[in-house]
Amino acid sequence: MSKFLTVADLKQLKQTGEKIACLTAYDATFAKTLDAAGVDILLVGDSLGMVIQGQSTTLPVTLDYMVYHTACVNRGRERALLIADLPFMTCWSPEAALQSAARLIQQGGAEMVKLEGGRHRRDAIRLLVQEGIPVCGHLGLLPQSIHRLGGYKVQGVAPHDAEKLLEEACLLEEAGAELLVLECIPATLARAITMEITIPTIGIGAGPDCDGQVLVLYDMLGLTIGKPPRFVKDFLAGAGDINSAVSAYVAAVKSGQFPSPQHSY
Ligand code: KIV
Repeated sequence: MSKFLTVADLKQLKQTGEKIACLTAYDATFAKTLDAAGVDILLVGDSLGMVIQGQSTTLPVTLDYMVYHTACVNRGRERALLIADLPFMTCWSPEAALQSAARLIQQGGAEMVKLEGGRHRRDAIRLLVQEGIPVCGHLGLLPQSIHRLGGYKVQGVAPHDAEKLLEEACLLEEAGAELLVLECIPATLARAITMEITIPTIGIGAGPDCDGQVLVLYDMLGLTIGKPPRFVKDFLAGAGDINSAVSAYVAAVKSGQFPSPQHSY
């Protein structure tokens, strides 16, 4: 029996209504700190390109970097589930996605992989699931498509776009995804998606009614470079130290106090 939380545990949390607390992590020391504070999921996000490497987008992040940081985080954790992002251009075919995911699992120690995108990712998801790899989908604002989107903007605002996102969430679940990140969409749409699908949703800028929440670690520690997005809360301010800030984040997510309407669209 694994001592780590499992995908089945996350589904159970959705069923019982207990909120899922997730944060990004990129190294062993923070992984240990977050894990000890009760964070349920550690996400090695390709946001590491921006917050660790100082890139202006996530696009330069390679699979080698993702494997390296995933392995670092894996060494620090004791309980949390470990998810790693499939970075830009690693999912251009189902087979490419499978080979990339295999490295994150075998060399990085991840238990689940996350990939951005909707309808066009169905075959990749089916293949990964067929090979025994749990998949987290990612809809809404897709940072890997930033040049097509033209900026970090709220998605799914027009009724037609909202309908499309709801439909794509159902398609990803049908393809076998077992978790879904919803980034920067109206709270009402995130609520509708969360009620429609049976897999847990994890929101970032998606309002209070998702099954769980995620923030980029450095944002919730008040280290955003430039103006923080509306959905970010600095949990270090007033907490005194990093351990207390992370515990406050977990408590605020579990109690439903975060995000509040001021952090939602
Ligand atoms: O890369 C990342 O950190 C992410 C989260 C913001 C969801 O995908």
